[in-house]
Amino acid sequence: MAFQHSRFDNAHEAAPISWGEAKLIKYLSGKSERLTLPSPAVVSLPVRPNNHNFFYHHLCQEICVLSPIALITVFMTLILPMQTVLGAQPTLREMAQQRGFYIGAAVAIPLLDDKDYQGTLKHQFNICVAENDFKMESLRPSRERFEFSTADKLAAFAQTNHLKLRGHTLVWHLAIPAWLTQGQWTRDDSLRIMEEHITTVMQHFKGKAYAWDVVNEAVSDQAPWGVRADGFWAKTIGPDYVEKAFEFARRADPQALLYYNDYGAEGAGPKADAVFQLLKDLKAKNLVDGVGWQSHLESGWKADKSHVVNAERLAKLGIEISITELDFRFTLPSTPEKLALQAGSYRSMLRFCLTQPNVKAMVLWGFTDKSSWIPHFYKGQGDALIFDRDYRPKPAYDALTDELLH
Ligand code: G3I
Repeated sequence: MAFQHSRFDNAHEAAPISWGEAKLIKYLSGKSERLTLPSPAVVSLPVRPNNHNFFYHHLCQEICVLSPIALITVFMTLILPMQTVLGAQPTLREMAQQRGFYIGAAVAIPLLDDKDYQGTLKHQFNICVAENDFKMESLRPSRERFEFSTADKLAAFAQTNHLKLRGHTLVWHLAIPAWLTQGQWTRDDSLRIMEEHITTVMQHFKGKAYAWDVVNEAVSDQAPWGVRADGFWAKTIGPDYVEKAFEFARRADPQALLYYNDYGAEGAGPKADAVFQLLKDLKAKNLVDGVGWQSHLESGWKADKSHVVNAERLAKLGIEISITELDFRFTLPSTPEKLALQAGSYRSMLRFCLTQPNVKAMVLWGFTDKSSWIPHFYKGQGDALIFDRDYRPKPAYDALTDELLH
């Protein structure tokens, strides 16, 4: 794992490491390369001390003769805070913040109880979204009842830790409850259910969620291009369900940014054109503010001219873009070559984001390989995120921090 971006490393490239320091580093790095602190800072190991840090240098030599338990105690109470004060590698979040950019991740809310999961999330990202718990299926056990308790946990977490919160998603033909799909509804019934859902949910999170994926994946993957005719909402309402949903959303929370979110419309092609046309129509009625490019992509992907052209035509419409569900999958098992290729893809996407003024955020669909939808949906594939299963940063993480520095 490369740690070339530590401020120490940059400043003292050739600084020799003493035997005591080397032993300390070896002992500790056998356990974990990156430790999450209770304070909002993440310290990378090994962090080489500055030659002038006389006290630190001698302390390292002294404590190496102590027992492992005493050594860990000394490390936790003295060395770590000292490293923080002296300057450790800033986190992804801190670097993004300095660039005025939002970098985030989808959250599996039940995992927030895991200290490492929660620590990594709050220290490394400044924006988040629920992977599943804001979907209709989760929020709406029956027509009469809304169940916000799980979703509220993420809203509270985001507020406490100063992360922006995206809402995903209000209207989708998937992840909708059985009482809805199995009922018999007229167009008016269906419109009323949709309106009460959008209004109740958006008003519940007013001031907490800054942007919403109002409609998800409405555009067809094949000719005839345009709003797809299948799916619950199109079948019970008709293709104007998309516009209706945006109308209801604008009314429910006029301050929130309203997004249309889809996959396969990032670059050029008939689907990207159909999404563009939909956005153009909605924008003419001031019903939409942004487009989410999901970006579930294969490792090796690179941004090219088609992405720039698409982003620029959207900018001319006054539409902002967020990368909303980024991951780069590959066929397992993982190898250093595959990880390097993946790092290149993450770097390319971030570089694209940072150079297109209307791209506001880059949100990953998860952050640790411990929890990702990929192995469940793509047989034999996985490891698509930037932290491994033990929350250690992968080469993709280093590529992102490096890109933010330059
Ligand atoms: O909640 C049940 C749980 O009780 C049960 O034990 C478990 C057993 O399989 O299933 C759980 O529900 C699953 C849920 O994920 C939570 O893990 C559902 O079966 C499964 O269908 C659901 O899949 C989610 C999928 O959307 C459908 O909602 C994925 O996690 C989620 O990553 C995926 O996200 C979508 C975006 O919303 C839209 N864009 C594409 C993206 C990837 O498909």
